[in-house]
Amino acid sequence: MRKPSINKFMRTILTLVIISLSTTIFAGENVNVYSARIEKLIKPAFDAFTRQTGITVTFLTGKEAILLERLKAEGQHTKADMLITVDAGNLWLASREGVLQPVYSKTLHQQIPSSLRDPDNNWYGLTVRARTIVYSKERVNSSELSTYEDLGNSKWNGRLCLRTSKKVYNKSMVATMLKELGPHKTEKIVGGWMDNKPRILPKDSSLLKAIAAGKCDVGIVNTYYLGRELAKNTNFPVSLLWANQNDRGVHVNISGAGVTKYAKNRENAIKLIEFLSSEEAQNLFADNNMEYPVNPVVKPSPRLIQWWGPSFKADSVNVAAAGEYQKQAVKLMAALGYR
Ligand SMILES: [Fe+2]
Repeated sequence: MRKPSINKFMRTILTLVIISLSTTIFAGENVNVYSARIEKLIKPAFDAFTRQTGITVTFLTGKEAILLERLKAEGQHTKADMLITVDAGNLWLASREGVLQPVYSKTLHQQIPSSLRDPDNNWYGLTVRARTIVYSKERVNSSELSTYEDLGNSKWNGRLCLRTSKKVYNKSMVATMLKELGPHKTEKIVGGWMDNKPRILPKDSSLLKAIAAGKCDVGIVNTYYLGRELAKNTNFPVSLLWANQNDRGVHVNISGAGVTKYAKNRENAIKLIEFLSSEEAQNLFADNNMEYPVNPVVKPSPRLIQWWGPSFKADSVNVAAAGEYQKQAVKLMAALGYR
């Protein structure tokens, strides 16, 4: 009668040992992400990563400024292994605020062009966001358009819409011009826009609606905003033109990621960034927001090709300029009266 109960006792002990061992072994098979990108844009790619590697991804989403403050406040106690955000200006700032750590990975260097990652390896681009010229299909012929500079031509007087200079997208665009063209030429470009008395809109989406409604004829937006309109209505009366194709190329920015300074799961975070920039995951990740792949071997999604062609010439200046020259860009825009 006693023998079975000893067996039962031993079995319980054995089970407890197995549970505790497996907890120890698998405790590291996790990666925690703070993301300024919303859940529906990141989760499908995270799920694919977990299916392939067995590493679970826990994430928290929020506004980039709040996530950055949180990382600073948490310091070495943070649970975050990785930060995902949009705009190189934001990634540059996170790095300067000391919440990221440099990570060298041969795979990342192969998969991501050097202009789309931090020269000091603190962050890496994951998708490309092109900011280009848009125009009314009803009132403008594409042959009338060519460059950002040309939007300062008097033929666009009273016909130009711009998003507010407060948005980081415009700060980054002007910052990269400063790096590439210097203050004199950049001042001439932005000054030309201001001479045309642009209507200032709060958002890229409202700018597109203003063109569609006939309030202005040309403007500058990130292409995925036009993609969203076209996905709803293929007859949306606004089209895009790839800017500066005969010289420096269209302004591009990124969404990207970096490993946090106090990451507990550093290797898993690197694996996740490698996965997100891999051939396998790029379309899944980029097309979710109608953005372009950062990995040059990956083609844009079929709908982007159908709308705007197979490729465009992108500006090759390192996107870190968005951060390096941001203060100067803000000053320049304010001095020229760009609200
Ligand atoms: Fe956006």
